[in-house]
Amino acid sequence: MKKAIYKTYGSPKVIELINTEKPLPKSNEILVKIKASSATRADTMMRQGTPKFGRLFLGFFKPKNTSLGTGFSGEIESIGNEVTKFKIGDAVFGEKLFSNGCNAEYICIAENMIIEQKPITISHEEAAPICDGFLTSYNFLKDIASIKEGQHILVNGASGSLGTAAVQLAKVMGAKVTGVCSTKNLDFVKSIGADKVIDYKNEDFTKSTNKYDIIYDSVGTLSYKNCKDVLTPKGIFMTPVLSFGTLWHSMINYKKVKFAATGLKKTEELKRLFEDLVSLFKDDKLHTNIDKSYKLSNIIEAHEYLETGRKVGNIVIINS
Ligand SMILES: NC(=O)c1ccc[n+]([C@@H]2O[C@H](COP(=O)([O-])OP(=O)(O)OC[C@H]3O[C@@H](n4cnc5c(N)ncnc54)[C@H](OP(=O)(O)O)[C@@H]3O)[C@@H](O)[C@H]2O)c1
Repeated sequence: MKKAIYKTYGSPKVIELINTEKPLPKSNEILVKIKASSATRADTMMRQGTPKFGRLFLGFFKPKNTSLGTGFSGEIESIGNEVTKFKIGDAVFGEKLFSNGCNAEYICIAENMIIEQKPITISHEEAAPICDGFLTSYNFLKDIASIKEGQHILVNGASGSLGTAAVQLAKVMGAKVTGVCSTKNLDFVKSIGADKVIDYKNEDFTKSTNKYDIIYDSVGTLSYKNCKDVLTPKGIFMTPVLSFGTLWHSMINYKKVKFAATGLKKTEELKRLFEDLVSLFKDDKLHTNIDKSYKLSNIIEAHEYLETGRKVGNIVIINS
């Protein structure tokens, strides 16, 4: 089978598509024939080995894990003899967390990991990236901010994968949403539910008199320091993008500044969030926005586009 790997840190050109043995499921595992997988900003950062201090976990001189891709959607081709939750032929989706390897034709995954039946209302392409933007932003909104009905949240980077998810989730959870994006994405961000949009090219919301209960900087272009004057007294600033500034503020001011790596959360907690998301997709309350899809053979191109930082929603890799 074909599988995307990278043996050294670097540009998209370090990605190789190799032929390797199709994996065999262990007794508690299922073998998924992948129809679509995600290609994300987090993947590009792991591939680049950035920020450099991340290499303490990823591997100092070269990546410990050479496989690429965390989110998948596909069909079960075979199952181990102890598997009870799934059967051959089921359409399933989920993520492989830090073990990666989803930008491939097949993966094996234990049945008790982040995997669920795919709702029939969504395609494999729509399902594959859900564990990037939606799972991450849901963790921030529900578990970190405990967002409440009527609260006002500002989502910076509202046109990204995490941002489009946050705008939709915050609306479902009853919040008032202001989305920050560039001129070209204003109508799009309104169309996915934002009550108000701010064009960051023409307006600096940090200088306004409006106050927010939550500022969710999904793209990491802000800092607590420049946002603190537009937070309500109990307001919080949170971001999924790690920087020394955020780390420092989250240590000295942990009630107001929050960072989390969602993938490091306990599997049982992630499963609980993932199950909620599956229900919301089944009820047609959430939608995956796809910017571009690429064939697995064009994965380098997909990573080149990801690195522009301009994608709108998600990038998907499809297996034909
Ligand atoms: N901590 C975690 O668990 C976790 C999990 C997943 C991802 N992440 C991280 O989350 C970050 C976001 O990823 P993503 O895929 O959602 O988005 P992304 O690809 O990093 O961002 C794309 C979007 O951001 C907008 N943008 C760029 N500069 C902006 C600015 N100054 N202000 C407002 N919007 C701006 C772009 O629109 P324009 O071109 O119109 O500006 C584009 O639509 C990444 O750094 C990723 O590594 C963290």
